Amino acid sequence: MARSILSAFNLMLGVTAFILPVQPLDNGLARTPTMGWLHWERFMCNTACDTDPHNCISEKLYMEMADMMVKDGWKDAGYEYVCIDDCWPSMDRDPKGRLQADPKRFPGGIKKLADYVHSKGLKLGIYADVGTKTCAGYPGSLGHYETDAETFAEWGVDLLKFDGCYMPKWTLLAEGYMNMSIALNKTGRSIVYSCEWPLYEWPFHQPNYTAIQQTCNHWRNFADVFDSWTSVKAILDWTAAHQSLIAAVAGPGGWNDPDMLVIGNFGLSRDQQETQMAMWAIMAAPLLMSNDLRDIDPQSRQLLQNRHLIAINQDPLGKQGNRTAKGNGFEVWERPLSEGRLALAVTNRNEIGGPSSFPLTIALLTNWYCCNPQCNATQVTPKYRELGVQNPFTPLHIMVNPTGTAVLVITPIKGQQYTPQQVKKWVHYLSEDKAKNTVL
Ligand SMILES: *[C@@H]1O[C@H](CO)[C@@H](O)[C@H](O)[C@H]1NC(C)=O
Ligand SMILES: *[C@@H]1O[C@H](CO)[C@@H](O)[C@H](O)[C@H]1NC(C)=O
Ligand SMILES: *[C@@H]1O[C@H](CO)[C@@H](O)[C@H](O)[C@H]1NC(C)=O
Ligand SMILES: *[C@@H]1O[C@H](CO)[C@@H](O)[C@H](O)[C@H]1NC(C)=O
Ligand SMILES: *[C@@H]1O[C@H](CO)[C@@H](O)[C@H](O)[C@H]1NC(C)=O
Repeated sequence: MARSILSAFNLMLGVTAFILPVQPLDNGLARTPTMGWLHWERFMCNTACDTDPHNCISEKLYMEMADMMVKDGWKDAGYEYVCIDDCWPSMDRDPKGRLQADPKRFPGGIKKLADYVHSKGLKLGIYADVGTKTCAGYPGSLGHYETDAETFAEWGVDLLKFDGCYMPKWTLLAEGYMNMSIALNKTGRSIVYSCEWPLYEWPFHQPNYTAIQQTCNHWRNFADVFDSWTSVKAILDWTAAHQSLIAAVAGPGGWNDPDMLVIGNFGLSRDQQETQMAMWAIMAAPLLMSNDLRDIDPQSRQLLQNRHLIAINQDPLGKQGNRTAKGNGFEVWERPLSEGRLALAVTNRNEIGGPSSFPLTIALLTNWYCCNPQCNATQVTPKYRELGVQNPFTPLHIMVNPTGTAVLVITPIKGQQYTPQQVKKWVHYLSEDKAKNTVL
C-alpha cells in the first residue's frame, strides 16, 4: 500500500496532542449518544392521513413505533427516544400563543402521546425551529422560546430537535440556539437539546464549537442524510475532512450528529448498511433510526441491534473516532475505548472488484500502544471472528467487501512494553521491507 501513508504514520508516532478540557452542556443528559427513532428520512412531511393513514404524520405512527420498540427488542438493545420531526403542529398557535398539534392528526394531543410513550418505558422527542417558520413552513419559535420550552415541558417531552430554517439573519443563530437552551433549562425538565446550529452557520463562517458544545447535547454539522450510498459517503468524507475541529469537542453530554440511520429502507446494500452502522459507532454518533419498525427485514434488525457495535457507540470514554489512514481505496478509522481498548474500522471504498484483503499492522496505527506489547484482536462485524493474541508487528489480513466495513476491537494484554523508539525502528524496517507485505 501507498508509501505516503507510511510516512504520515511515522510522523504521527511520537506526536502527542494536549487538549484542554472543555465544559459541555450541564443538564446531565446524553452522557452517551442518544439512541432512538426519528420520523423524518422515512416519513418526511406526509400529512395525507385520508389517503395514506398507515404512513402519515399522526399520533398513530408514534404509538405504533413505540409498540414495536418494546415488542421487537429495540428497547432492550438501548433504543429509547421516539422522536417526532417536522409537520406535527397546527398552522396556528392557540389563543394563548402556544404551539398545538394538528387536531385532526393528533386528536389526543402531545401530552397524551407522551403519556403513552412513557407508559412503554420510552421517551418522546419533538421538533421545533429557531426561526420564524419550520423548514416545512409550520410556525417557528422565534420570539416564543420560553413559551414553547414551557409547553414542551408541560407535555412531558424529553428531547427537542431544534431546526435552523427561516432565521431572519444568520448572525442571530447563536443567540437563538443559546436562548432556547436557557429556556429549556428554566423549565426544570430534563430535555435533550438537539441542535442544527453549525449546519446553518457553515455557509457563512466556521462555527464556534466551544459555544455549541456548551449549549447543545448534539448538533448537526452537515446536510440531511438521504437513503443512498452517495449521501452516506458524503457525510463520512465531510466528517473526516473536519475531524480536527469537530472530533475534539465530542464527549459525554455533547456529540456531533451525522444524522439518521437509514438502515432497513431501500437505498443501501447490505455492505453499505454495515458501513453506516459501523461508522456511526466509530463517530460516537446519536443512533436515531429512520425506518419503518413495523416492516423491517431481519438482517437490518440484527445489524441495528448488534450489541458489539452498540457497545462501541455507547462506550463510556466518549471519544469520537478519527480517520487515520487512507489508501488503495481503503480507509482506516480508530476510536479509543474505555479500559485502553481500541475500535478499528476498515472500509473498502472501492466500488469495483470483489472482497479484498487488507493487510493491517497495529504498529502503524495512531493508537498502536493499545497493543504494547501484546493484544487480543476480535473482528466483531460483519462476521464475529476471534483473531487471537497479536503483537504490534504481526500482520492481520482483513477481508472487506466493496463498500463494506470490518470492525475490530483490540484489547491490550499487559507485559514488558516496547519503547516508542523500538516501535519506530520496526515501522521503519517494515516500510523498507515491501516483500513482507505487512504495511498498510
Ligand atoms: C436572546 O435573549 C436576549 C436576552 O433576553 C435578547 O436580547 C435577544 O434578542 C434574544 N435573541 C433571540 C434571537 O431570541
Ligand atoms: C440547568 O443548568 C444548571 C447548571 O447550569 C444545571 O445544574 C441544571 O441541572 C440544569 N437543569 C436542567 C433541568 O437542565
Ligand atoms: C467561542 O465561544 C466561547 C464560549 O462561549 C467563547 O469563550 C469564545 O470567545 C468564542 N470564540 C470566538 C472565536 O468567538
Ligand atoms: C481526532 O483528531 C483530532 C485532531 O486531529 C484530535 O483532537 C482528537 O483528539 C482525535 N480524536 C481521537 C479520539 O483520537
Ligand atoms: C480474546 O477476546 C475474546 C473476545 O472477547 C475472548 O473470548 C478470548 O477469551 C480472549 N482471549 C484472550 C487470550 O484473552
